[in-house]
Amino acid sequence: MRSSILGLAAGLALSAGPAFAQPVVGDERTVRGHLDHAALAEGALSVPALIDAGRVLFSTRFTTLDGAGRPLATASEVPTRRPETGTPPFFRTSGPDANACAGCHIQPEAGGAGDFTANAFVAPQDIEYDFDSISPDLSMERGTTALHGSGLLELLAREMTADLHAQRAEALAQARETGQAVEMPLESKGVPFGVLTALPSGFVDTSQVAGVHPDLIVKPFSQKAVTISLRQFTVTALNAHHGMQAVERFGPHWTGVADFDGDGMAEEMTEGDVTALTLFQAVLPPPVQVLPDDPILAAAAARGEALFGQAGCAACHRPALPLDTPIFTEPGPYNPAGTLRPGEAPVVAVDLRDLWGDWLETDDQGRVLVRAFTDLRRHRIADAETPHFANEVITQNFVPRDQFRTAPLWGVGSTAPYGHRGDLTTLREAILMHGGDAADSRRAFEALSDEDQAAVIEFLLSLQIVPRGPVNPALDRRAEVQP
Ligand code: HEC
Ligand code: HEC
Repeated sequence: MRSSILGLAAGLALSAGPAFAQPVVGDERTVRGHLDHAALAEGALSVPALIDAGRVLFSTRFTTLDGAGRPLATASEVPTRRPETGTPPFFRTSGPDANACAGCHIQPEAGGAGDFTANAFVAPQDIEYDFDSISPDLSMERGTTALHGSGLLELLAREMTADLHAQRAEALAQARETGQAVEMPLESKGVPFGVLTALPSGFVDTSQVAGVHPDLIVKPFSQKAVTISLRQFTVTALNAHHGMQAVERFGPHWTGVADFDGDGMAEEMTEGDVTALTLFQAVLPPPVQVLPDDPILAAAAARGEALFGQAGCAACHRPALPLDTPIFTEPGPYNPAGTLRPGEAPVVAVDLRDLWGDWLETDDQGRVLVRAFTDLRRHRIADAETPHFANEVITQNFVPRDQFRTAPLWGVGSTAPYGHRGDLTTLREAILMHGGDAADSRRAFEALSDEDQAAVIEFLLSLQIVPRGPVNPALDRRAEVQP
């Protein structure tokens, strides 16, 4: 993809070098201009232009002239050097393993899911990074998930985190006041997260907290639910898959050097570039239900939705979670060090109502209903009788091997194959592999008549990613700076 961001942005917000003033013969860079986050926050680009810039970055096949490759750095989320070993520029296991984000995320369009061949091999922090085998002893093999609607998921998670943190503060205040231990059931948007015990000393016992880490930050991303924001994931993916290092994590203020990966290029991805990439993903339109034209199939899908509730599926795959404020702000409030944080840069805000208007459904309190069919927490999903989903040997970020994030089902009609490893070709197989906390629900599904089981499948097939083209093209609003 050679159309440069420059063309879209008409020179605005770009820290373009002199080379951009005129076309260059034989130019093999694909990133031929960089975005400046501060300028974006001042509204240098309209929201659609900013999103288009992100779309280009997501789909472009990075070259060594852009900074692709990381001869001296591993895929680790924490900047880590490796010895000069003559590792090849591409490596299917520990990466770099792809040319573009859209090399994997492409079903049914850029930002979507991936075929089994696009699986990635994820290694936890504490192991040797340069593994040359797909053995489960060395990494976790994961299927490529779709990013549609992910801005809404991140916003839900931020509101849920705020709720859980408020409940922790309340429990601590009560314990101080009363001099007694206080047991506080944690809950947000109707989703339970176990029980926290606050002691008068200020100590918090999280041993009975469930589905979320002890930090009580709801992490909506990665199938293990270990990543806080699209931005955190993006900075990690840029380095791991492509060797494109973002300044905000690999730049001199954290690592002391401008070219951490030793490929001769500095400032490979600026804060503004990452903001554009993140916003592109955040505003990929949420999947929707598409009922079949055939009246028999349509009736079956409607019946299947009711059966889905009756079989207990909806206890985890929540049909709707309410979102108070559909304004996507970047960077997000809970980002960890090494991912841009609000104190470090101005905040760019995009009101999703401006972008999507009619696409957003609201309840009687004006809250947006996010029909993602997830509760954004982890559950135990395997047991001795049904062990399939405990198919990983390594534990990631201290999450037990048999726990995973409730898969959002809102696009499953478009995202085969299924399961966190992408090794199940049908929805039925994925349902029959449910064990652990979902065992009763699976049995309820198995107890349904063949016709009723088929109706549940027909309902799931109707949940689809529908490419809807660019966001409201009439929108000329600039991104706004939040106070
Ligand atoms: C080699 C294939 C591959 C490439 C290239 C790739 N991804 Fe992914 N992506 C995956 C896989 C596999 C997952 C699921 C990871 C997991 O569950 O741990 C994923 C998950 C994600 C997620 C989290 C989504 C969720 O459902 O939790 C985000 C965000 C993401 N990728 C963004 C990107 C961006 C941005 C790029 C480019 C900089 C990129 N990816 C490049 C394979 C890829
Ligand atoms: C206890 C919580 C829970 C219940 C109850 C539950 N699920 Fe799930 N579901 C999960 C989790 C967790 C995953 C992710 C499994 C994995 O890949 O690691 C999942 C995955 C899935 C998938 C695969 C999605 C994909 O994109 O790969 C489907 C389909 C699914 N569930 C359907 C159902 C149906 C139908 C029911 C009711 C019969 C049900 N689930 C009940 C937690 C639950």
